[in-house]
Amino acid sequence: MKKGLLVCFSVLLFSSLHSTAQETDSSTGLIVAEGWETVRATCTECHSAQLITSNSGSRAVWKSRILWMQDTQGLQQLTQDTEDTILSYLADHYGQKEASRRAALPAALMPANPYPTQD
Ligand code: HEC
Repeated sequence: MKKGLLVCFSVLLFSSLHSTAQETDSSTGLIVAEGWETVRATCTECHSAQLITSNSGSRAVWKSRILWMQDTQGLQQLTQDTEDTILSYLADHYGQKEASRRAALPAALMPANPYPTQD
């Protein structure tokens, strides 16, 4: 009986991990999804894709990075199609992150302060 439960949990755990895991390209680390090959071809000539995968941002943020590289780093002009493909891929897979910290607890839920200030 116990064993059965364990197997059951393992299966659940495995399938939930499996469904959220995204396939990444083993050489660049880019998430394999629509547009990734365009990103690999356009964006890994000057620096590693790690610079991309370690960043995140909205479509507008990614667009501004591209403009910055075009203005100052010699990134070629992209066709509208290429730029759209790249921006959609980046915004979808390396989008704006939610704040990683939870909001602070309301004071009423906090434990009593053992070090009250004397005032
Ligand atoms: C012509 C060369 C070149 C190409 C092609 C290029 N980049 Fe860059 N990129 C740079 C340089 C140079 C830097 C600055 C690197 C550094 O700070 O060490 C940079 C920095 C970045 C950064 C970090 C920006 C930051 O705020 O720190 C990101 C993200 C980035 N590139 C994404 C891309 C993407 C996406 C593409 C494809 C559209 C791309 N790069 C194509 C030259 C290029």
